[in-house]
Amino acid sequence: MNAIVVVDQNWAIGCNGDLLFSLPTDMKRFRSLTIGGTVILGRKTLDSFPGGRPLPKRRNIVITRNVDFDREGCEIAGSLQAALELAADTEDGKLWVIGGGSVYAALLSRCKRVYLTKVDAVAEGADTFFPNLDKLPGWKVEATSEPVEENGVTYRFVDYINTKL
Ligand SMILES: NC(=O)c1ccc[n+]([C@@H]2O[C@H](COP(=O)([O-])OP(=O)(O)OC[C@H]3O[C@@H](n4cnc5c(N)ncnc54)[C@H](OP(=O)(O)O)[C@@H]3O)[C@@H](O)[C@H]2O)c1
Repeated sequence: MNAIVVVDQNWAIGCNGDLLFSLPTDMKRFRSLTIGGTVILGRKTLDSFPGGRPLPKRRNIVITRNVDFDREGCEIAGSLQAALELAADTEDGKLWVIGGGSVYAALLSRCKRVYLTKVDAVAEGADTFFPNLDKLPGWKVEATSEPVEENGVTYRFVDYINTKL
């Protein structure tokens, strides 16, 4: 499986339950990579989506400790292991960890690649972070895109590979 994430220069990913940046080209890429696949996400990330609704055209596996949790269009997992069991029939390249911070941290070591969008800015007040892959053993940059300029920020798509898997 793979992870996909947007980080700032400090590897921050969120603030007050929301994203740090609005990046239409990145969103388009996110959709084209994940559509038709299965996404694994934490309950707080689901709640951050418009109307708290799952992502269309994808299987949404939501992790929560709340045994009563129910949301139309979502498959609910009570643990990381339960999420992985639900996703077991998904082809490896079509299984995506899409956040947030707690789910990335927990599943990162099982990801073969991280499709990272690196924004050339520091977001004020960020409260959720992604592990710094440049400091984690086993992670190498596989490809870096040309810069994209949008909404007043510059960013690049940086693909990392987990050489331990
Ligand atoms: N920049 C990006 O690419 C990106 C992507 C996604 C999200 N985000 C941001 O990340 C932030 C949310 O991240 P977060 O870490 O606060 O929340 P999260 O990972 O989205 O969700 C956390 C929730 O998931 C459930 N959970 C996590 N681990 C579990 C486990 N082992 N077993 C059972 N349930 C588990 C719990 O739900 P219950 O409380 O229901 O038990 C927990 O409260 C937001 O700001 C969001 O916008 C950024």
